[in-house]
Amino acid sequence: MEIIIIAAIANNNIIGKDGTIPWHSKEDFKHFKETTLGFPIIMGRKTFQSIGKPLVKRKNIIITRDKNYIYNHEDVFVFNDLINSIEFCRGENYEKVFIIGGAEIYIQALKFADRLIISHMKLETEGDTFFPEFENEWKVELSKDYNDFILKEWVRK
Ligand SMILES: NC(=O)c1ccc[n+]([C@@H]2O[C@H](COP(=O)([O-])OP(=O)(O)OC[C@H]3O[C@@H](n4cnc5c(N)ncnc54)[C@H](OP(=O)(O)O)[C@@H]3O)[C@@H](O)[C@H]2O)c1
Repeated sequence: MEIIIIAAIANNNIIGKDGTIPWHSKEDFKHFKETTLGFPIIMGRKTFQSIGKPLVKRKNIIITRDKNYIYNHEDVFVFNDLINSIEFCRGENYEKVFIIGGAEIYIQALKFADRLIISHMKLETEGDTFFPEFENEWKVELSKDYNDFILKEWVRK
């Protein structure tokens, strides 16, 4: 099973501000949806809260340290540990799993991810949440130019 980090990153590695994403790109949203549809998506509790509802046609896996956290929905699965959530997906025989953020989860997942699918946004913004430094240990395998971003798929050097 391929473990894939998917993120949209602006200047200075900014990914968020005040608990949300400080830009709106329909083009990136479409890319995100097309890429992740049908596969499990793993996210931190804060990112799930920011999205506000489960994303359709995907197993939404929420990571929280709160052992009493409950979200009643057929597509939502709650785990208290990131590794256990990945093993759960492996047990379900998925070909891929997507780690969709936020920063706290990206930092942990970067240690064992196989691939990074990054939308490098063509914009300057301010923010308070950052994607971790990664370029030194990763190389670009594929690059594609969109209007709003350059899509790069990174694999380990
Ligand atoms: N641009 C992008 O591609 C992108 C993507 C996703 C998110 N974002 C942005 O990123 C920001 C949110 O990121 P964030 O770093 O603040 O939060 P986050 O990573 O979404 O969630 C953090 C929470 O995850 C839980 N958690 C983290 N590690 C854990 C572990 N090892 N075991 C159990 N639970 C764990 C904890 O939940 P509890 O507190 O419940 O215990 C923690 O508070 C928002 O601004 C969002 O819009 C941007």
